[in-house]
Amino acid sequence: MTQVLELDPESPQQDAIKHAASIIRDGGLVAFPTETVYGLGADAMNENAVRKIFEAKGRPSDNPCIVHVASRGMLDRASTGINSRAELLIKEFWPGPLTLVLDRKPEVPSLVSAGLPTIAVRMPNNRIALELIQAAGVPIAAPSANSSGRPSPTTAAHVLDDLAGRVDLILNGGDTKIGIESTVLDIKGDPPVILRPGWITEERLRSVIGEVGASASEEDLRRSPGTRHRHYSPLARVILVEDGQTQQIEKLCVEYLNRGSVGYIGHSRLSINSESFYPIYLEAAADKYAHSIYWALREIDRKGPEIIIVESINDEGVGASVMDRLRRAAS
Ligand code: TXA
Ligand code: MG
Repeated sequence: MTQVLELDPESPQQDAIKHAASIIRDGGLVAFPTETVYGLGADAMNENAVRKIFEAKGRPSDNPCIVHVASRGMLDRASTGINSRAELLIKEFWPGPLTLVLDRKPEVPSLVSAGLPTIAVRMPNNRIALELIQAAGVPIAAPSANSSGRPSPTTAAHVLDDLAGRVDLILNGGDTKIGIESTVLDIKGDPPVILRPGWITEERLRSVIGEVGASASEEDLRRSPGTRHRHYSPLARVILVEDGQTQQIEKLCVEYLNRGSVGYIGHSRLSINSESFYPIYLEAAADKYAHSIYWALREIDRKGPEIIIVESINDEGVGASVMDRLRRAAS
C-alpha cells in the first residue's frame, strides 16, 4: 500500500518528515518533491533499498541515479574529486537544480551509479526534500518518480498514477516549481561537459567557470547512459511542430482529426471546433512551458488520443532544455 501525506511546503510537518525518514532508514521508498520534479528516494548507502528503486520504476539497470544531499558533510560521504570548478558551482547554484558528476566513494553501492566509478550529486532547493534528507541522515538516491520512459512527475498525483503500490510513502508538497529536471554536468572533463541540459543554462555555467562543452557526442552519451533511453513519453505519439506556423498546425490537426481524436499543446491559438480536439494552451515563455509541459502531456493522455501535436518554442536558454525534452518525447 502507498500512503500519501500532505505537507506544507514552507513549513513541513515534523511528524511526517520523521515518519518518512524512518522509512528511508529502514530501506523503504519515499517519493518527495524537489524544486524540479518529484523524486523516488531510497537510502543511497543501502544496496537493497536502491535495487527497489529500479524495480519500482522498471528502470534499466544501466541508468544511474542522482544522489541528493543536504549538507557538505553528506557530499563528502558520497563523493570525492570536488575540484575548484565544482567548488565555484556549488557556491553559486546549491541548493538548486545543478547535478555534478564526481568520483564515487567506494562506500556507496555501485548499483546507484549503474556500475560507473562516478556519482551524480545535487542538493535540491526544496524544504521538504532537504528536511527529509537531513532527518534520514543519509544521502538519498532519487531518480524522477515516474515509471521508466514516462514524463517526469510534477505533482503527487502523477507519482500515484505511475507508482501506486510500488512506493511506501508519497510526500505531497504540491506542484513542483520548475517542472523540468536538473542540469547534469560532468565536472571532471576539461572543459566540463553538459550531459543533460536543464534549468541551469550553459550561459549561467559559463559565467561562473568559463568554457563549458555542450553535450551530445556519442562518447558523452555513453557517459550519461540515462540520456540514451526512451524518455518523457506519453502513451500518445508526440509530433513536434514549428513555432508560430498557425495555419500549418491547424491543417495538420484537421488531417489527424479525420482519423481520430487529437491533443494539442501550444502557444498559438487554433480555430478548431471539434469534440475530439483536446487543446492545452501554454504561454510561449520557456519557464512557463517548463513548468507545465509534463503535466499537459499527462493531462491529454488521460483522454486517450493517439496523437499529441506539440508546438515548439524558442530554442534558447531554458528553451533549449525544454526542446531537448520535447524532441526526446517525439522520437
Ligand atoms: O531534477 C532532477 O535531476 C530529478 C530530481 C528528482 O532530482 N532527478 C532526475 O533523475 O531527473 P533521473 O534519474 O530521471 O535522471 C538522472 C540523470 C540521467 O540522465 C542519468 O544518466 C544521469 O542523471 N546520471 C546519473 N548518474 C550519472 C553518472 N554517474 N554519470 C553520468 N550521468 C549520470
Ligand atoms: Mg527521469
